[in-house]
Amino acid sequence: MSQFDLIKDIAKFGLENDKEKLLEVLNELIEYSKKTKKLNFALQLQSILKEAIRTQQTSGLTKVGSPQHFMREEDREISEFILEKITSDYRFENLVCSDDVEETLKLFIKEYKSADLLSKYDLPVSNKVLFHGPSGCGKTLASYVLAGELSKMMIVINLGAIVSSKLGETSKNLAKIFRRAASEGCIIFIDEFDTLGKVRDYSQDHGEMKRVVNTILQLFDYLPQDSMVIAATNHAEMIDNALLRRFDLKVHLDLPDNKHIQELINKTLKSDLFEFDKPKALPQIIKACKGLSYYSIQKTLVTTIKRSIFEMDKTTIGVKAKINTTLWLQLLKKEIQDNSLSK
Ligand SMILES: Nc1ncnc2c1ncn2[C@@H]1O[C@H](COP(=O)(O)OP(=O)(O)O)[C@@H](O)[C@H]1O
Ligand SMILES: [Mg+2]
Repeated sequence: MSQFDLIKDIAKFGLENDKEKLLEVLNELIEYSKKTKKLNFALQLQSILKEAIRTQQTSGLTKVGSPQHFMREEDREISEFILEKITSDYRFENLVCSDDVEETLKLFIKEYKSADLLSKYDLPVSNKVLFHGPSGCGKTLASYVLAGELSKMMIVINLGAIVSSKLGETSKNLAKIFRRAASEGCIIFIDEFDTLGKVRDYSQDHGEMKRVVNTILQLFDYLPQDSMVIAATNHAEMIDNALLRRFDLKVHLDLPDNKHIQELINKTLKSDLFEFDKPKALPQIIKACKGLSYYSIQKTLVTTIKRSIFEMDKTTIGVKAKINTTLWLQLLKKEIQDNSLSK
């Protein structure tokens, strides 16, 4: 059956309220999408299906105290703690990093995909990774790359909601999220992990944070082999040592060197629609990028491109746009000044 036939059936059974057949066709569409390599679409459908089934099980009148009642309460709470639930199209080619980092991450993925093989030899699978390093150097991006390469759904945790909720509840909330992610086979992504993991210098409420660290230690220790946690932080030095040790992999993503700056420029300009007005100025530009993050470099380049297009003579629209290198150099200089102000 073609994809269109399946969609027609979904419309038909949906409108006829024939739930059993609707589920059957939806599952067929999921399988079809997997086969035709539309993996993210398949994952999203699967997630919609699971959620709908769970809501139905818990909807209607439920007796307070019944298992359904608790599930519905937990659903409502958990949705607050999830910032988003995403699939990702990012791949290694989107990330500029050292060969070392790339190799490490590829091995991590291979290990995760070879879990069955490793379990035959009674070997554990690495499934906890921490990205650390300065802001704008690809920690979030690398997490998306892992989700994309593994074709898994990723739950992005809303730390603000988890931590600011009632005192003493942080640990419980974390446990709920971990349980949910495990049951759905999702990756858990915790950005700004230092907010949770630091104990020292946390004078206001030492007891609570200590409990949180202990909870995370336990959650990590009992993390099912097929689950995965990705954490990111700009302040690895603030994280409790015992917690740091629990990560199977700690990946440092640093500011770009000359080679990486060049690679980032090439990737950003990959469309072949642009060229520099003064190609000889490139070494000077690379020098001016020194000390800036990937994010800042890319941002100033994109701004320069947009402004260069606005400056273009109308008759030349359609030919390669010339990037105004002088403008880019000015923006880079300003970015460095702004950065030193905020330090
Ligand atoms: N290593 C990198 N390779 C390619 N692009 C990058 C890299 N680091 C950052 N970027 C660009 O900057 C944006 C923001 O980076 P992000 O991953 O959010 O940084 P971080 O999480 O480390 O603060 C990315 O979406 C991407 O466009
Ligand atoms: Mg980030």
